[in-house]
Amino acid sequence: MYSQMEKTEGGDPKLQADMTDKERAFQDKIDRNIKIEPRDWMPDNYRATLIRQIGQHAHSEVVGQLPEGNWITRAPTLERKAILLAKVQDEAGHGLYLYAAAETLGVTRDQLTEDLLAGRMKYSSIFNYPTLNWADMGAVGWLVDGAAILNQVPLQRTSYGPYARAMVRICKEESFHARQGFHIMMKMAKGSDAQRKMAQDAVNRLWFPVLMMFGPSDKDSVHTAQSLAWRIKIDTNDQLRQKFVDQTVPQIEYLGLDLPDPGIKWNDETGQYDFSDPDWSEFFNVIKGNGPGNVDRMKARRAAWDDGAWVRDGLLAHARKKAAAKQLAAE
Ligand SMILES: [Fe+2]
Ligand SMILES: [Fe+2]
Repeated sequence: MYSQMEKTEGGDPKLQADMTDKERAFQDKIDRNIKIEPRDWMPDNYRATLIRQIGQHAHSEVVGQLPEGNWITRAPTLERKAILLAKVQDEAGHGLYLYAAAETLGVTRDQLTEDLLAGRMKYSSIFNYPTLNWADMGAVGWLVDGAAILNQVPLQRTSYGPYARAMVRICKEESFHARQGFHIMMKMAKGSDAQRKMAQDAVNRLWFPVLMMFGPSDKDSVHTAQSLAWRIKIDTNDQLRQKFVDQTVPQIEYLGLDLPDPGIKWNDETGQYDFSDPDWSEFFNVIKGNGPGNVDRMKARRAAWDDGAWVRDGLLAHARKKAAAKQLAAE
């Protein structure tokens, strides 16, 4: 979902001449668009980078349920509640597909969760912002899931088979998420004065944090070359951010709302919109754990993990019992 996390350990990709035969065959496969599968040989760094990227993507899906789950009990109608509930459940499913994809690389889901809880792994910075009014449910679906889609659609073509296939399923559900969000925004923006104000307030608060979802500017993000060569990353952060702005400006005009950036202007020469940079110091501060919601999000995850311990223990005990019975029958 979130290219801000797609940093590789290595900087520049290896030159053909410096590669071992195995590495050359591996790169050749990627260049010919042949998927890498779990049992195939792969460089250690490819494996490590993917574990981090897929793991952090999975964490983002699960933590991303929290700001929206917060509104399920307060949805304004039964229909809105049912839609929001389905959307939040989808995100849990996305987490599940992605943890399963990461497990094919030799980590366990427990390890990944422990790394998250210990602060060794991150999740998308956007989920550290609070959702303060009902229009936030619209803005999140429309803008946050909209940004996620731009990131995830190219990842359907990523080089690692299980990750690419998980993305295909996830993208189908994401388009529903963005549509339900935009539908809420349409109702709010064209509703009463109070509703329009709530919609504008949500956009004002979320616009720059959403731009940050694509990660730091390419010029400050020195580690993407190897990820691009390995097709773990398909587009750069700035390319995706530009695409997002270009697709969103006509939508905000349709809603009759404003973006909180006086710098947004069509540029005839580039054929794209110019826009202002987000405050990157805020981004790095949130990533470090100092955003408005970091402490609460981690508290909720830790509580869920601790409260679920008896379920995991029960499942393990059941699996052991079944295995023992099977062994006994075989003897
Ligand atoms: Fe998702
Ligand atoms: Fe989503």
